[in-house]
Amino acid sequence: MSTSGKAVPASIFARLREHLARFPGDFIPLQIGDTHLAPAQALHEIDWAAMAPAELYTYGTPAGWDALVGAIVDKARTKNQLDVTAANVQVTVGTTHALHCAVQGLCDPGDELILMTPHWPLIRGIAISHHVTPIEVLALAQVEQAITPRTSAIYVASPNNPDGAMLTSAMVDELVQIARAHDLWIISDEVYEDYTYELPHLSVAACAPERTITTFSFAKSYAQAGLRVGYALAPEAVTVAMRKLVNHSVYNVPVAMQRAAFGALRNGAGFLASARDRYRAARDRARARLLAPSVMPPGGAYLWVDFSRWSGADCMPVLEKIAAQGVLVAPGSAFGDEVKSHARLCFTGVDERRLDEGIDRINGVLASYP
Ligand SMILES: Cc1ncc(COP(=O)(O)O)c(C=O)c1O
Repeated sequence: MSTSGKAVPASIFARLREHLARFPGDFIPLQIGDTHLAPAQALHEIDWAAMAPAELYTYGTPAGWDALVGAIVDKARTKNQLDVTAANVQVTVGTTHALHCAVQGLCDPGDELILMTPHWPLIRGIAISHHVTPIEVLALAQVEQAITPRTSAIYVASPNNPDGAMLTSAMVDELVQIARAHDLWIISDEVYEDYTYELPHLSVAACAPERTITTFSFAKSYAQAGLRVGYALAPEAVTVAMRKLVNHSVYNVPVAMQRAAFGALRNGAGFLASARDRYRAARDRARARLLAPSVMPPGGAYLWVDFSRWSGADCMPVLEKIAAQGVLVAPGSAFGDEVKSHARLCFTGVDERRLDEGIDRINGVLASYP
C-alpha cells in the first residue's frame, strides 16, 4: 500500500455503528449531509428521446456537456457576479472531484494547504491523498501566522460545513489581502451558496478572480447528491490543468447526469426558494428543541452542537450513547483536531417528524446525565 493509501482517514462512523447495531428500532440518520426533499429535476421527468443517442451514449467532452457549461456561465455571471466564460468552467463528479483536481492541480507533494477549521472532513483526506499537508487554523486571524514557504493555498467554505459560519465582506477582504500578500491560491468551497438564511452569500472570486478556484454542487443546491455533478470556476490556466486531471481521472462526467443537472439549473428557482424556507424552519425547530447548545448557523444544513457540558473535551462517549438509541450524529474529530467537544447534526436529511424524534432521543440521553 502507498503511504497516502494508508494515511487517508477511514470512515469516522465505524465505532458508532457498533453501538447503533444494538438498537432494535428505527434508525434516524442525522450524521450525513443530505436532504429528504425530492430533487429539483428527477431523471424520470426528462424527455430522453429529445436527446440524440450519440450525445448521451458516446464519450462526452471532458470540460462538460456544452449546454450545461453554457448554463453555468450564465448563472455565474448573474448570480455570483463573476466575469467568466466557458474557458473558466470545469464540470466534475461532484464537488469532491472538483476539490481533488484543484488540490492536485495547484499543490506539489510536500506543500501545505491551510484549512479554516472546523472544516469539511474530506478536504483533509483529499490533501493527504496528494501528499499535501493539511494545516488547521481556527480563525482567519490565525491564517497569516500559519503561512510557511510551503503554503500553496487556503481552503475556506462559506457557508461552512459543519458550523454554517459565513464569510462577511470584511472577512473576504482580509482573506484576499493575505492571499495576495503571500501569493497564495484560495480554494473557495461554495456548495451551500443557496442555503443562506440571514446573510447574503458572497463569492470570494468576485474579489480575487486571479487566484480563486470556486466549487459548487448540484448535490447541495438541487437535491441531486446521488447524480454526482458539480463544477469548478477558475482562472483559465487553472482550468486547463484541472481539465487534464478530469480527462485522466473520469474522462467525462456522465452526460445523462449533466442533463439532469442542467434541468435543475434552468428551472430550479422555485425549488431553491421552497427548500430554503423548509431548511430554515428545520434549523429553527431543531435548535429550539435540542437541549445541547449550538451557535445559530446563518447558512448550511447543520447544527454544530456543543456537548462539552455532558462530556468535556471529547464527546465520543455521549455520541455512543446516542447511537445506542438509534441516532447518529457526526463526531467533531472528523472536522478538526481541536473541535472534539462538538458534533454535527444535519437538519435537512430527514423530515420534521423524524427530526423531532431524533432530537427527543438525543435529549433523553442528555437528561440521563446527572
Ligand atoms: C463543504 C462541502 N464541500 C463539498 C462537499 C461535497 O459535495 P459533492 O457531493 O458535490 O461532492 C460537501 C458535501 O457534504 C460539503 O459539505
